[in-house]
Amino acid sequence: MGRPGPAEFTGSDVYSPASVELIRESGTIAARAIALVGESIRPGVTTEELDIIAHGFIVANDAYPSTLGYRGFPKSICSSVNEVICHGIPDDTVLEDGDIINIDITAYKNGVHGDTNRTFIVGEAGDEVRELVVRTEESLRRGIKAIAPGRQVNIIGRAIESYAKRFGYGVVRDFTGHGVGEAFHSGLIIPHYDTDKFDTVIELGMVFTIEPMLTLGTHQWDIWDDDWTVTTRDKSYSAQFEHTLVVTESGADILTLP
Ligand code: MF3
Ligand code: CO
Ligand code: CO
Repeated sequence: MGRPGPAEFTGSDVYSPASVELIRESGTIAARAIALVGESIRPGVTTEELDIIAHGFIVANDAYPSTLGYRGFPKSICSSVNEVICHGIPDDTVLEDGDIINIDITAYKNGVHGDTNRTFIVGEAGDEVRELVVRTEESLRRGIKAIAPGRQVNIIGRAIESYAKRFGYGVVRDFTGHGVGEAFHSGLIIPHYDTDKFDTVIELGMVFTIEPMLTLGTHQWDIWDDDWTVTTRDKSYSAQFEHTLVVTESGADILTLP
C-alpha cells in the first residue's frame, strides 16, 4: 500500500473517558450500518447496492465513511467475498447462494473513527464454511478476552492462533489490527498470529482494533490489479470479524456494538 496517505500519526493510543465515548458513538454508527446492510444480504444483490445502503445510513447519522477516498479507496465499505481476505471494492458482483461476504465499515464523527466488520453467509453454506465463520468470530472473542493492562499486545495473536490451529486454519499475518481513534490507522500494530514481535505494553484507556482473518487453506495472499483486493493465494475461503476496543481495568470494552 504505497499510495499517498495521511501524515504519520504522532498522537497517543490512550484516550480520555470522554474521547472514548465519542469513539463509541462512531463505532455504534458503523456497527448499525453493518446490521442494516446485513438485512439486504441475499442471493441476487450486488455489492454496489450494499455500499449505497451503508453510505446513506452513515451520512444520515452525520458521520463520514472513513474508507471513501482513503489512500484512494473508492467506496464507503469494503465488501470481501469468498476467497477475498479483505479490502474488496463494491462493484456489480452479484451475490450467490453459499457465498460468504465480509462487510467492513468505519465511521468518522466528532473527529474520531470507529472500525468494525463481520462476515455474513449468503443463503446457505456447507458445514466447512459455516464453521469457519463461527470459529473466526470465536477467535475474535478469545483475542478480546486476552486483553489486560500490563500485557504485551502480542498476547492477542497468541490467543487467536492457538485456537485457529486446532482446526488447521490459515491465520493471515500481513494484515493486522491497529490503533484507531483520531487516526484511522495510528501506527500501533496488533498481530493476530503467535509472535514475540509487537511487544507494546497494553495500557488502560488504549483504543485499538482486533480483526482476525482465518482461511480454510493458506495464510499467503495475492493482490488484484486494482491494487486493493487481497485474496488467499490458494483461493480458499477466508472469514473475518473486527471490533474496536478500549482497555479497561478488568480487560476490554467493545466500542462497536450496534
Ligand atoms: N477498515 C479496514 C480495517 O479494518 C481498512 C480499510 S482501508 C480501505 O483496517 F482503504 F481498504 F478501505
Ligand atoms: Co481495522
Ligand atoms: Co475495518
